[in-house]
Amino acid sequence: MSTNERMTTDSAYEAIAPDDFPAMMDVDRYGARSTAFDKIISATHDHFWDPLDPKYIDFNSPWDLERDLLVPTDFNMELQTAVSDKLNTDQKIYLVNEAVRWNMSSILHGEAGALALSASLCHILKDPGAQEYAANQTREEARHVTGFAKYIQARWGKPTACGVVLQEILTEIVATPLVWKKLVGMQMVVEGLAMGAFASFYAKTHDPLLRRLMQLVMTDEAFHHKFGKIWADRTVPNLPAEERDLIEDWALECFMKLLRNSTGPEQKKEIYERIGLDWRWVQGALAEALADKQMRATMQESTNIFRVLIKTLLKAGIVTKRTAPMYAAYVDMAELHGEGERMIGDDIAEEGIRYLQALNGAGGSAAIYALSGTAAE
Ligand SMILES: [Fe+2]
Ligand SMILES: [Fe+2]
Repeated sequence: MSTNERMTTDSAYEAIAPDDFPAMMDVDRYGARSTAFDKIISATHDHFWDPLDPKYIDFNSPWDLERDLLVPTDFNMELQTAVSDKLNTDQKIYLVNEAVRWNMSSILHGEAGALALSASLCHILKDPGAQEYAANQTREEARHVTGFAKYIQARWGKPTACGVVLQEILTEIVATPLVWKKLVGMQMVVEGLAMGAFASFYAKTHDPLLRRLMQLVMTDEAFHHKFGKIWADRTVPNLPAEERDLIEDWALECFMKLLRNSTGPEQKKEIYERIGLDWRWVQGALAEALADKQMRATMQESTNIFRVLIKTLLKAGIVTKRTAPMYAAYVDMAELHGEGERMIGDDIAEEGIRYLQALNGAGGSAAIYALSGTAAE
């Protein structure tokens, strides 16, 4: 099977068919290990954390969901529109907190997808170093599933069902045998969106428990994001134009789907119904706000979570003139062009890593170097 032959310009990402285990036992494979991921693999001990150990995070801290906003109202997209005029204080608190529940549930389903996807990479990546990295990521995604499941349980009891659009995209990237589709879809797009969402929630939430969870998860996610970046740096510049275009189109498709998932009002219709609003009316209010320049500016706060993702794609050469106008509706592309490589989440992740190093009794700053240095060297 030659499904994975294309889009591989670096042998570290060479892949086999998921059902071709005999190829893994090729005697020459074991010795042909890339060193590209060694630093991020050895850093895993430094940023170890356990969602079940209160030394790292204590899920028993209480919260009054009926009285206290988990995030400020300016973080809620609907409340930047005519929706705000229709609601009393209690209804606004309900909407804000239920929207957080929806977001956390989407993240939980996304983490389940990341776990399954990383595990699937172990079945197809031929390079033992890349495979070990994927196994490590699988283990980290598993603790994220535990962490988000525990947070949702502590605040609401149960997550909301996965939105149709998100379910579709996660299923597609987990199931595809194509390594580049997996890496672009998960490591670049989903992880990029996750880093943006985590950084925003970390900065905005009033709930210390949620803030701690965001920081711990980000110490891991920064490395997952890094793995995607190493892949893109080694692959994208060396691809023939036609294959690069395929990557660009696929990234845009994933982005548009995820955008529809987080902003599509139909998926939140049960939340709106409980405060007396019809989802179609909410959709109209959102569309009206997006068309108004001033209102759009105030909405930037709530679309900021897409910024990290778009910047990642742009810096990786996955957004060119072909697709840039599609992203320009959500962020200032010129501003992104002018920015350096540093991401908003990097500082939060580094602070978290230092905190974990102290807790774990680990010395040195190898983990920080692995993250900020060019691990591809
Ligand atoms: Fe994760
Ligand atoms: Fe991840």
